[in-house]
Amino acid sequence: MGADLSTRPADILSHLAHSCSPPRSSHNEATRNGDIELALLEPRARSNRGVHQVRKVCFETNMGRTCNLVWLAGFALVARTASGGCPFLSGQKDLGSRIGGERLLSGDHDDGHEGGADYSRETYEAIQADIVSMFVDSKDFWPADFGNYGPLFIRLAWHCAGSYRASDGRGGCDGGRIRFFPEHGWADNTNLDKALTLLQPIKLKYGDAISWADLITLTGDMAISSMGGPILGFCAGRQDDDSGYDSLELGPTPEQEATAPCAVNGTCELPLGTSTVGLIYVNPGGPMGVPDPEASAPQIREVFSRMGMNDTETVALIGGGHAFGKVHGACPSGPGPDPFDAPEAPWPGTCGDPDSATFGRAENTFTSGFEGAWTEEPTVWDNSYFVDLLEYDWIQAESPAGNIQWIPVLKEDATETDVPDIIMLTSDVALLMDPEYLAIVEEFAADQYALDIAFSNAWYKLVTRDMGPHSRCVGTDVPPPQEFQLPLADTPKDLPSYSGAKEAIGRILSEESTYAPLFVTLAYQCASTFRSTDYMGGCNGARIRFPPQSEWASNAGLSTVAQMVALAGRPRSSSFMTGLGYSGSYTEDDAGHPWRHLCDYNGFRLSTPRSIRRRLRQGRVRLPFLHISL
Ligand code: HEM
Repeated sequence: MGADLSTRPADILSHLAHSCSPPRSSHNEATRNGDIELALLEPRARSNRGVHQVRKVCFETNMGRTCNLVWLAGFALVARTASGGCPFLSGQKDLGSRIGGERLLSGDHDDGHEGGADYSRETYEAIQADIVSMFVDSKDFWPADFGNYGPLFIRLAWHCAGSYRASDGRGGCDGGRIRFFPEHGWADNTNLDKALTLLQPIKLKYGDAISWADLITLTGDMAISSMGGPILGFCAGRQDDDSGYDSLELGPTPEQEATAPCAVNGTCELPLGTSTVGLIYVNPGGPMGVPDPEASAPQIREVFSRMGMNDTETVALIGGGHAFGKVHGACPSGPGPDPFDAPEAPWPGTCGDPDSATFGRAENTFTSGFEGAWTEEPTVWDNSYFVDLLEYDWIQAESPAGNIQWIPVLKEDATETDVPDIIMLTSDVALLMDPEYLAIVEEFAADQYALDIAFSNAWYKLVTRDMGPHSRCVGTDVPPPQEFQLPLADTPKDLPSYSGAKEAIGRILSEESTYAPLFVTLAYQCASTFRSTDYMGGCNGARIRFPPQSEWASNAGLSTVAQMVALAGRPRSSSFMTGLGYSGSYTEDDAGHPWRHLCDYNGFRLSTPRSIRRRLRQGRVRLPFLHISL
């Protein structure tokens, strides 16, 4: 979701005065040093909504620390106080970094080097072999259900990735923040600390050769494939954050309260991805815990669509995921204190003999409060989840922990006499209640291959979306670019005539110099959609030509300007975005400034004459240069 740039400068300047003076004692030093942004990280400043917005926008556009100053103080001030001025000119290295943590862009990996990430086939095969051995090496501190940790690790990978939300690109497993506050304490992540502990020896063995985020995702993949499930491939290259800072807005935190409050937890709306802060997607027991499968279905559709998932992907993921493993609610008194109350040993369990090895674990485990498995063979991939959903009627029952779940009963016309010992959650039975979902359930029940294809694609999308463009994927098992990665055509063999485009745009400007600010605006608007949360947006692809961007109010009239630029670039096949880049940069060149980069465009945008902007809005900009030829 793009920020509303048009309203920002005024807010920002008023907040500058409010936030930076009088200086707070503990931050006087930072302020004196010109490092205003550091002072703004102080909690009181953080509660200031305007400042928060500034930091949010700067973060989303990846402008780093300097950006906060830019927006807060305006361009004059930034020139004086910021250590590096324009981040694009100061040679800053943190283009891919997040405030408060080191983070590299793809291409900066130390491929195969000692001490750095190693994506070689040899290393990956070794890691994969260790993962598969770990699955069947049950440990006393957390005994494996059915002798196989696979399902637990599918849940870990899905909860790591499933925090992603398409609204602003936040969440996802890149960063590996499921290890930190706030995600690690979510009710939905109960007992996943044990999964991380099981993974730790492998992480320690391979060190920086693999990030936590890649290891968690790879382990999920290996779990699926080791139990016979289909996997499309693996996009490696996730980097680890050193804190949960970038998940603060997912909640529950003051940051989330400030930016995306949820009036009634359980009915949360965009930009939040989930219906319930603290759960990954929806309440398994039905909306607000009411076991109403009919009401659950639309909520599932709503929330999965916030993650960019369609109906087929949604059904494939839920039923494909629940082909494996079980739910845990054998204990009526819950899992014990969570990481906020017991950071050293969260969720110790509360049932069983305190002196026995199975206190709070194995048959005494409480994770969600539901109890049972979805299929008769929970460590084998198949479509029996879908077959059984259709085969039986489902009635409510109570788990030992008192949660309402669903058990099968024979249909009236059944020829068999036995029912399997399986369960469904309200959110599973919901798939029978909606006609579109039901048709997909029927398809997957009848056609295992259709499920294989749908699940492998949806799973890959689930765990890879937050990585952004295909170019960020590294490693030896990366599948070809997928639709969700918005692939672009290959770079043409014949490079465009940059000088020709520059010359043509120069000619336009020499005939009509008032277009200069428009060209700058166009380039700015084109590039400023970039967000570092999931690496989406930006001018690459020149999507400003198409809806929805072309229809944004802030882009009113720019399609006409874009046509000019396109015409200027066309004869020598320069790409549209090259034209944009040149138009934006050239106008500044022309205006007597040295060649500058993006951060300067802001200044020009702000100074675009009102008369021209009005003409743009009214569609009164002429296209006088149709005769251009290079
Ligand atoms: C509507 C969406 C979903 C809901 C409400 C939901 C809910 C749940 C719940 C309540 C549990 C039990 C946790 C426990 O007590 O141990 C669970 C387990 C599990 N879920 Fe889901 N889930 C959903 C989607 C998915 C998806 C998309 C996947 C993967 C593709 C998945 C994979 C699993 C697995 C493998 C387990 C078993 C973990 C184990 O055996 O330890 N779930 N789910």
